[in-house]
Amino acid sequence: MSVAPAASQGSLDPRNAIIDACRAMNRSGINQGTSGNISMRHGEGMLITPTSMPYDDLVDSDIVWMGFDGSVEGTRRPSSEWRFHLDILKARPEVQVVVHAHPTACTTLSIMRKDIPPLHYMIAICGGHDIRCAPYATFGTAELSRNALAALEGRSACLLAHHGMIATGSSLDQAMWRAVEVETLAKQYLGCLPFGEPPLLSEEEIQNVIARMAGYGHGD
Ligand code: 13P
Repeated sequence: MSVAPAASQGSLDPRNAIIDACRAMNRSGINQGTSGNISMRHGEGMLITPTSMPYDDLVDSDIVWMGFDGSVEGTRRPSSEWRFHLDILKARPEVQVVVHAHPTACTTLSIMRKDIPPLHYMIAICGGHDIRCAPYATFGTAELSRNALAALEGRSACLLAHHGMIATGSSLDQAMWRAVEVETLAKQYLGCLPFGEPPLLSEEEIQNVIARMAGYGHGD
């Protein structure tokens, strides 16, 4: 018996939404080639991009469904990074979408094994005063997944040393927006570093911003 919900028709079809987001990720420059992957909570598991396929070639049937028990439904093999996608979605019930990419500024900082400090108030969108860099582990491993989960504690994004970044969200739009914002913060940090380590906002000020952001927007 299939436990993967069927794709709904129309513009909200989750498989096509994932494919659109993958293509947008490359158009915006936050990812290159097939180095990123996206997952979305779906039934008792997740939908995830297939491994090593150019985004422009993807069709909805290429998106793989994986159960939280590790079962797989689909014609393709799931992303080689399925393990951290699955572990994040299992451990963090508020997360609906996980975006992984290798944006250049984030990856440069990750090579230097640097956390992003509170240099701009927008860091608050990731849940705290910093964006941590998880220690290096080989791609696709349980060790990388453990490191990522620890770096994501109390946060909605992290860097992965010598690798890239992960952004999460309660929707595809939010996770994609966060991914772009984290790359922007990384660019700003890289812009500051030639002048030395930048002055930082206090943890208290970031908590003020988090409280203020809760009432930001149109309330819808
Ligand atoms: P996939 O093509 O298997 O999704 O992997 C690319 C990647 O990001 C490895 O870190």
